[in-house]
Amino acid sequence: MEKKSPRITLLAGLFAASGIALAQVNGFIALPGFGDALPGLTESEKAAFEEGRQEFLKAETPETGLGPTFNGNSCVQCHAAPAVGGSSGIAVTRFGRLVNGRFDPMEDKGGSLLQQFSISPALRETIPPEATIIARRMTTPLFGAGLIEAISDQDILRNARAPKPDGITGRAHLVADVASGTTRVGRFGWKAQQATLVAFSGDAYLNEMGITNRFFPLENAPNGNHALIARFNHANGVEDAVDPATGRSDLDLAADFMRLLAPPPRAPSTPSSRAGEALFAQVGCAACHTPLMQTGPSPISALNHRPVPLYSDLLLHDMGSLADGIGQGQAQPNEMRTAPLWGLRARRQLLHDGRAGNADSAILAHAGEAAPARDRYRQLPPVLRRQLMDFLNTL
Ligand code: HEC
Ligand code: HEC
Repeated sequence: MEKKSPRITLLAGLFAASGIALAQVNGFIALPGFGDALPGLTESEKAAFEEGRQEFLKAETPETGLGPTFNGNSCVQCHAAPAVGGSSGIAVTRFGRLVNGRFDPMEDKGGSLLQQFSISPALRETIPPEATIIARRMTTPLFGAGLIEAISDQDILRNARAPKPDGITGRAHLVADVASGTTRVGRFGWKAQQATLVAFSGDAYLNEMGITNRFFPLENAPNGNHALIARFNHANGVEDAVDPATGRSDLDLAADFMRLLAPPPRAPSTPSSRAGEALFAQVGCAACHTPLMQTGPSPISALNHRPVPLYSDLLLHDMGSLADGIGQGQAQPNEMRTAPLWGLRARRQLLHDGRAGNADSAILAHAGEAAPARDRYRQLPPVLRRQLMDFLNTL
């Protein structure tokens, strides 16, 4: 008689309970699940995904460059749920203040990102007493990140110019991309503050783990105190060493993994969810949460001219009281990037600071440009609200 492993049964039950496709558990469904590679990769692309995944999982130590200050010791520590590359309940903290109505990131005091941990208590960074704005930012998931990266700047800019209902504007965040040295349309992060995965990777190596790299070669001084760095920094020089043969380093491997991650799998639709999908457009959600974009040309066939059902325009919107009050690059304190809604059903804490425990309260917290859509949602009879929720639960 065949013995069923109780562990597999338990896992299958958990996946079923959270509505996640049984792809890996059953093994015979072709569609990739959360954390799998994009379908249709070549052998060398599959190898790059695996090698990058190992790098993403790797725990750093002070000897490999961790710190002096940091927020985590591996990418996966924060990007873990419901699979490697996802999100988590871990948030980071930003601080700053307003000076004559303008946001001051207090860089000389170690802002705007706080590093919560340090390799020695003497290096502990704290929120300076002069800071008047303190905001939490939840970890965002990375599923389908390569598809988002491959959307052309022109497509995002065209969307920004297109007329929208309810007085909605929407602005592309033009950023200096450290990877290419050019001005690009930002699309990653709550403020669309980075345009490419290599740049975000370099940023995360330095700012989340304290690992200096070719794009960000200087250690973060705790609260701006450079004298402390000289005393406590174990590793010298750029910590993420570039392989002279390839010109690449660990940050490129992590970027490969993120680029080749499959988009989140959709759950099956029902008559109720299909009705909810129509309501999503009628109520005005789709004016920002663009259901479908396309990638431009890519040397990776799995990313070349592909549909991207991300449910975001990747633009910055004035979100009024919902915004985090932090200025970053050209993103103003009142502006936030439309959060992509794909993979929503696998998330537990919603909105940038995790204040919403479900989609209903996330919608009710929308303000600024989204106020008219929020009000129409609020006025829906309960049956129709349920349909809209059923739709969101397929994402
Ligand atoms: C301490 C937790 C933490 C660690 C460690 C961490 N991240 Fe993140 N990650 C976050 C948070 C929080 C955000 C959202 C930040 C924001 O928008 O300001 C984020 C966002 C991202 C994004 C943007 C995704 C998007 O479009 O929204 C990328 C890419 C990313 N991280 C890559 C990495 C990589 C690569 C590593 C390892 C080198 C890493 N992260 C380590 C917490 C973490
Ligand atoms: C004006 C643009 C705009 C409109 C209209 C809009 N949203 Fe949003 N939405 C956003 C932005 C920006 C965020 C991220 C805000 C933040 O966390 O600070 C967001 C976040 C969300 C989130 C949380 C996602 C996450 O990852 O945490 C959900 C759910 C959501 N929106 C659903 C809706 C629905 C449903 C509607 C229609 C009733 C709607 N939105 C209308 C811009 C908009």
